[in-house]
Amino acid sequence: MDGDWKDKDYAAHYNKLYATPTQEFGIYVGVLDLNNGDSLVDFGCGNGDFLLLASGKVNHALGVDISQPQVETARKKLASRPNSEILLSTFLDFSPGQRRFTKGFSRKALHHLTDPEKEKFILNIAPAFKPGALFLLEDGMFFDFPRADMEKNWEALMAEAARYYGNGWEAKKKDIIYSFREEFPTGADEWTRIFEKAGFNIKQRLPKCSFYGTLLAVKG
Ligand SMILES: C[S@@+](CC[C@H](N)C(=O)[O-])C[C@H]1O[C@@H](n2cnc3c(N)ncnc32)[C@H](O)[C@@H]1O
Repeated sequence: MDGDWKDKDYAAHYNKLYATPTQEFGIYVGVLDLNNGDSLVDFGCGNGDFLLLASGKVNHALGVDISQPQVETARKKLASRPNSEILLSTFLDFSPGQRRFTKGFSRKALHHLTDPEKEKFILNIAPAFKPGALFLLEDGMFFDFPRADMEKNWEALMAEAARYYGNGWEAKKKDIIYSFREEFPTGADEWTRIFEKAGFNIKQRLPKCSFYGTLLAVKG
């Protein structure tokens, strides 16, 4: 995504072109088994669509996002949910402090961090996750090869992207190619290494296609 998240028009472009059906967020609610004993954090919460759904299930829901326009939209959306809180913060500046989480979620957001930054971030937040806590990460990541081999796999990657996005491919192509080349989707193996170093185990590895999917981690 080659836009500036602090720019209102770019945030509006994303919210329109990449709007997520509520049913899709409902699947994450099920996978995370959200319940009223949970304290949930959503890193890169964007316009708050997932938090709106999730905050109806959990004890406390926290969203963290760098984008002022997205944070404002999320705060408005969640105004009637006193158990929710939206923090304007970068991932790397976020400090859990006394907070303790039983569930974590991050979708289409952590590819903004380089691999060393991903590791720094996960090591920083890991102590705030209770034993047994679940963390669902969904993002661009390469399931079949390490990031270093991306250019070698470029033709197959483009063919797979055209298949995956179908009729939406032409409209999304510029954003997706920018994300592959200029942002930092990494190998699923690298994500696994990072989570394991931080004391999580990967419980499920669910590719939606070769370059996008979900890891479900559980805190040891
Ligand atoms: C592609 S959107 C995803 C939003 C939402 N999670 C979804 O699934 O639709 C990425 C979000 O990550 C946020 N973001 C990007 N870089 C960030 C950073 N360094 N720290 C915190 N948030 C960041 C952006 O502001 C944006 O709201």
